[in-house]
Amino acid sequence: MKKVIVTGGAGFIGSHTVVELLAAGYEPVIVDDLRNSEEGVLKGIAAITGRSPRFHRVDCNDRMAFDRVFREEGQVHGVIHFAAYKAVGESVSEPLKYYHNNVGSLTVLLGLMAEHGVKRLVFSSSCTVYGQPEQLPVTESSPDRNANSPYGYTKVVCEQLLRDQCHADPLLQAVLLRYFNPIGAHPSGHIGELPLGVPNNLVPFVTQTAAGIRKQLIVHGADYATRDGSCVRDYIHVVDLARAHVMALDWMAGKVGSVCEVFNLGTGEGNTVLEVVHGFEEATGVKVHHSIGPRRPGDVESVYAETSKSRDVLGWTCTYGLKDALRDAWNWQQRLGA
Ligand code: UD1
Repeated sequence: MKKVIVTGGAGFIGSHTVVELLAAGYEPVIVDDLRNSEEGVLKGIAAITGRSPRFHRVDCNDRMAFDRVFREEGQVHGVIHFAAYKAVGESVSEPLKYYHNNVGSLTVLLGLMAEHGVKRLVFSSSCTVYGQPEQLPVTESSPDRNANSPYGYTKVVCEQLLRDQCHADPLLQAVLLRYFNPIGAHPSGHIGELPLGVPNNLVPFVTQTAAGIRKQLIVHGADYATRDGSCVRDYIHVVDLARAHVMALDWMAGKVGSVCEVFNLGTGEGNTVLEVVHGFEEATGVKVHHSIGPRRPGDVESVYAETSKSRDVLGWTCTYGLKDALRDAWNWQQRLGA
């Protein structure tokens, strides 16, 4: 079996990807220090797959500990690197923390991969690298240095680092996946998102409001130049996103020599914040108290993906729609309880 190290494998996207890797016959090995996730996720993975992947509680910035993981695991087919911070607002007040963790861990990982002869990497990037694109849907060749937060710039810097490293090492293969807005949960209800404290992201806030944990959702601005005045995003079911990582690994394995390729991962459709709220109400029959508030600093008006490259090159397409994702997010929230 092909062994794949999954950093951040206990996190939201990481855990769903571990499930898909197992289903595809890979042997995922989770490296996660649980600073933003919980060990219970491993039970959820086992409940879905009947398997318990190997788990190392290690900080990817701890070079010695991470080196021991590579030594213990022996031959590794590839790495999927999820472990990173992702709170946009926090990155504005604590940029060093973001650069240290997000860029620092990638430099450690690339060094260890070189030492241990591991040549395949899938990297978690984000549509945040585009900022507000001039043309929609946004293609992979749109300018990608317009991020509007330190978090976003850590992704820009990591992407550049990967291009430079691929240039320097003609055997290194890297796939850079630019996620749009991942939402939902595994349809089984065994794994999902576990936001710490008050959620920053829309859908966890919606489900917590529906569950009565939050009084009401504030829609951050309804005066944008969009269909109903609220921002447009491309919301993608986390299971579809997870599948793309497996396809990226499969695709790389079929290539000889250096690869450094960027792919958008979105549905190709944009939905407004209010459409998400109403879509949730329709999909679940549960009302979401909400009111319109001021714009959130740093938000872009509209962004959604052009997905033909992922489809044509990786053979990847989405199988879930917005309402499926909202239903699964609600199913998961109900399991978590109020
Ligand atoms: C942003 C980044 C994304 C990054 C993610 C990490 C962009 C375009 N996207 O996503 O790349 O991976 O952060 O967290 O930079 N909203 C409300 N009320 C709320 C919460 C959100 O109205 O209580 C609105 C926001 O204003 C936004 C939409 O919902 O219009 C989605 O917000 P969110 O879920 O936070 O994701 P992004 O900001 O799009």
